[in-house]
Amino acid sequence: MTPAFIRTRDLKKHYQMGGVTVRALDGLEIEIPRKSFTVVMGPSGSGKSTLLYLVGGLDRPTGGEIYFDNLRLDEMDENELAVFRRQTVGFIFQSFNLVQSMDAAGNVGFPMQFARVSPPERIKRSLELLERVGLADRAHHRPGELSGGQQQRVAIARALVNDPALILADEPTGNLDSASGMSIMHLLSELHQSGRTVLVVSHDQRMVRYATHKIFLLDGRAVSEDQYRSADLELS
Ligand SMILES: Nc1ncnc2c1ncn2[C@@H]1O[C@H](COP(=O)(O)OP(=O)(O)OP(=O)(O)O)[C@@H](O)[C@H]1O
Ligand SMILES: [Mg+2]
Repeated sequence: MTPAFIRTRDLKKHYQMGGVTVRALDGLEIEIPRKSFTVVMGPSGSGKSTLLYLVGGLDRPTGGEIYFDNLRLDEMDENELAVFRRQTVGFIFQSFNLVQSMDAAGNVGFPMQFARVSPPERIKRSLELLERVGLADRAHHRPGELSGGQQQRVAIARALVNDPALILADEPTGNLDSASGMSIMHLLSELHQSGRTVLVVSHDQRMVRYATHKIFLLDGRAVSEDQYRSADLELS
């Protein structure tokens, strides 16, 4: 068996809120294979977004270990994490997180500023990426002049700027109508087929159909599909 691309051991993210400890992740053990399309499912508050933030190096655990290849993300300092994020990870959020005052091309090119890419090269690559997500003709529209599905495609183009090996997406179709959601799923599937590892939080059954692997979370821990389904029955 090939070693897992990403692996966690007894991973914890606890928050102290007044006198109460919130256990967003509480002893999480998961493995994400390289080049998998892994879908994370779990009820609201079960720790899905927290998991994505930790895997993407946007946040740090309060306990346990998190491995990326053989690197320990939990032991990296801020600079190392920043390099990891820039070189390895593309994030796609539910709410797109686009800069409203910039047009689509500007939004896509934005992360390249930090990678010291020259302005002409930035524009060229932004236009290529917009073309790739089917938005060549919307390069000079601002987010407010785009549909939700188009905004999400801009966000995906932006996530691809540094050619990341790992794509993280948090409910990327959550705010979209069915047809736009479908086109986002196709895009993610293409990224997977081109050799990237995709980790996506989604309850959309159509997304789940693309999954090569599934992770089920309950109360900050990974459970089996059977445990997950029976808990779901108890809740409903
Ligand atoms: N900054 C924070 N401070 C305190 N508690 C937090 C913080 N961030 C998240 N939590 C708590 O951690 C738990 C897990 O949150 P998380 O956002 O990971 O859930 P989720 O599974 O993504 O839920 P949803 O489906 O609603 O997006 C929740 O109970 C949440 O209230
Ligand atoms: Mg969430």
